[in-house]
Amino acid sequence: MDKQNLFDKYGGVPTIKAILEKFYKDLLSLRWTRKMFVNVNMDKLILHQIQFVSFAMGKPESEFDDKRLREGHAGLGITEAQF
Ligand code: HEM
Repeated sequence: MDKQNLFDKYGGVPTIKAILEKFYKDLLSLRWTRKMFVNVNMDKLILHQIQFVSFAMGKPESEFDDKRLREGHAGLGITEAQF
């Protein structure tokens, strides 16, 4: 039990998906974020984000390269403070 990863412990993809949907709903209700997501396919973004969070929570046999995170945000003009 104590060796269980956080991904399985908290219910895997369904839990992460529900939290991310709420997260982006709240995020996009803020004025300063909206313009950054106008041309973004949110369904696709949430799928990618599920992969990232699953990996970060220790899902077995998953991976998410730092390069993908860097390239995904390149050219968006995101400041340190926003991060
Ligand atoms: C801890 C900080 C953050 C993490 C872990 C994170 C994670 C991610 C992930 C996993 C993706 C999907 C990458 C892919 O398509 O493979 C993504 C895309 C994106 N993120 Fe972030 N993000 C962070 C901060 C931010 C901030 C501060 C903003 C802007 C306010 C932002 C805006 C975006 C946008 C607009 C995309 C979509 C890019 C596209 O599909 O063209 N992110 N992020």
